[in-house]
Amino acid sequence: MPELLHHPLASHVLTKLRDKNTPAAEFRALSYKIGLMLALEATKDLPTDVETIDTPLETMDASVLGEGLAVVPILRAGLGMLQPFTDLFPSVSVGYLGLERDHETAEPSAYYNKLPDVTSRRVLCVDPMLATGGSAVMALDKLKAAGATDIRLVTIVSAPEGIETVKAAHPDVPIITAAVDRELDDNSYILPGLGDFGDRLFDT
Ligand code: PRP
Ligand code: URA
Repeated sequence: MPELLHHPLASHVLTKLRDKNTPAAEFRALSYKIGLMLALEATKDLPTDVETIDTPLETMDASVLGEGLAVVPILRAGLGMLQPFTDLFPSVSVGYLGLERDHETAEPSAYYNKLPDVTSRRVLCVDPMLATGGSAVMALDKLKAAGATDIRLVTIVSAPEGIETVKAAHPDVPIITAAVDRELDDNSYILPGLGDFGDRLFDT
């Protein structure tokens, strides 16, 4: 099972995201807010180093963030979750993977790939929707082809079908999500879901 974000505020924000009457401006703000919570959840086991510092009163060994971090949103909807990561981790490296599902077949195709050095960094691949899992598997394939060995997949809403597909193809990649929904419909949309995340985020 994925790691599920448990927080009353996360449930509240998710409810507002699901509501079809939530306008784009509020949808963006809500995406940012739940993105912050997911970013904290996905990084709670980040390795730390020890630094010796002087407080105003004495010298102490204290914890600082250790290894490098990269965040890779899957375009376009993943952009709605990028800023929480760059706000919390200002020195994070950012890569982009452009993937789009075919409206008929739900098969993903790639149109953009710009990655930082992912070989020595924890990589957080972010995409709000995990439906069939086709896009996530393609993204993880590309990250591994670029040399990534320590990857987390961070989503807002996940379907059981997508979770199974990712687990089968990439059993080493933990999934952190805010919700596991019931199923996919005949058009591979998540039920109950929240609709097309990219369309609602960008008002298209
Ligand atoms: C959505 C979503 C995921 C993908 C999930 O993107 O952001 O990338 O669908 O579906 P899957 O698990 O069945 O692959 P979409 O292709 O609609 O593109 P967009 O982000 O540009 O709207
Ligand atoms: N992509 C979305 O934006 N929503 C879904 O329900 C499935 C894929």
